[in-house]
Amino acid sequence: MDILTIPAGESNKTREVWARLTDEMLAKGYGRDAAVIALGGGVVGDLAGFVAATFMRGIPIIQVPTTLLAMIDASIGGKTAVDTPAGKNLVGAFHSPTAVLIDPQVLMTLPLRELRAGFAEALKHGVIADEPYLSDVAGKAPALLSTDGQRGDSMFSLIVRSIEIKADIVARDEREVGLRQILNFGHTIGHAVELISGYSLLHGEAVAIGMALESELAEHIGLAQTGTAATVSSALQAAGLPTALPSGSDGEAVIEAMRSDKKGRSGRTRFALPLRIGAMAGEDTGWTVSVSDDQLREVLA
Ligand SMILES: NC(=O)c1ccc[n+]([C@@H]2O[C@H](COP(=O)([O-])OP(=O)(O)OC[C@H]3O[C@@H](n4cnc5c(N)ncnc54)[C@H](O)[C@@H]3O)[C@@H](O)[C@H]2O)c1
Ligand SMILES: [Zn+2]
Repeated sequence: MDILTIPAGESNKTREVWARLTDEMLAKGYGRDAAVIALGGGVVGDLAGFVAATFMRGIPIIQVPTTLLAMIDASIGGKTAVDTPAGKNLVGAFHSPTAVLIDPQVLMTLPLRELRAGFAEALKHGVIADEPYLSDVAGKAPALLSTDGQRGDSMFSLIVRSIEIKADIVARDEREVGLRQILNFGHTIGHAVELISGYSLLHGEAVAIGMALESELAEHIGLAQTGTAATVSSALQAAGLPTALPSGSDGEAVIEAMRSDKKGRSGRTRFALPLRIGAMAGEDTGWTVSVSDDQLREVLA
């Protein structure tokens, strides 16, 4: 076994690093009987996954995620990718792991801010599929996120339930032609906010803002049950996550950034939006709902 390493950070999830890793594997003489073990956060998982998907036309990958976000989200579902100058995750492949190994004890060393960001995706799982789970995670968040919090095994039930929700959705729509798009809740605005922050916001923080604003949007257009947005915001706040655009950022910039994202459409954008906590809209329209820029502007103002 050889250990290949990369420097930390999203800026290394690139084709250049993919090329270096595959060249190193070729130089070491690995063939089709090799396998990749991805040990790290979502950056390592996505990159090593893409290496495994493409090396010798595909070799097995075992994911060993070490961040909460990677445990409950990135390592599950078989999406692998690298970023390009035109945007995130634009070159990639579906390549399901042979196994995912999770040891919650490794979260003991994860910086609190990274742990908190992972909670955004757990809360998302509650909003899209399981109302009791949303209240459960929001209720446990302050203790689990306290500086002296017991982060290891006490995270176990949260990790298990989030994986069940994501894996169930992925199993029903692996290639994201319909249902799987509900996992993008919070991500249409979230990706735009992440981009305009120059990646100073963590993915989970940007998604938290996206979830709060997209819930407001769902109520604003008369889709979501009244009170949905308030419940989403208070759950995010219980985990210490942001729920509004960073001060000084403007709604027009968000709409502009959405244009450059792959989900953008001219004058209208499709969103995965809640009907109420635990149920998503759009069953008859492919699990997304078309919203005009004007309606979006009213919410972002
Ligand atoms: N494939 C998917 O379905 C999917 C889903 C969600 C996110 N992602 C991708 O995941 C990436 C984000 O992943 P992330 O949030 O895990 O960030 P990350 O991989 O950048 O890790 C965050 C930081 O924590 C450090 N770290 C990791 N584990 C640690 C530990 N146990 N103790 C101490 N430090 C540790 C890392 O070195 C890094 O500095 C993004 O590239 C995103 O696009 C993919
Ligand atoms: Zn996400």
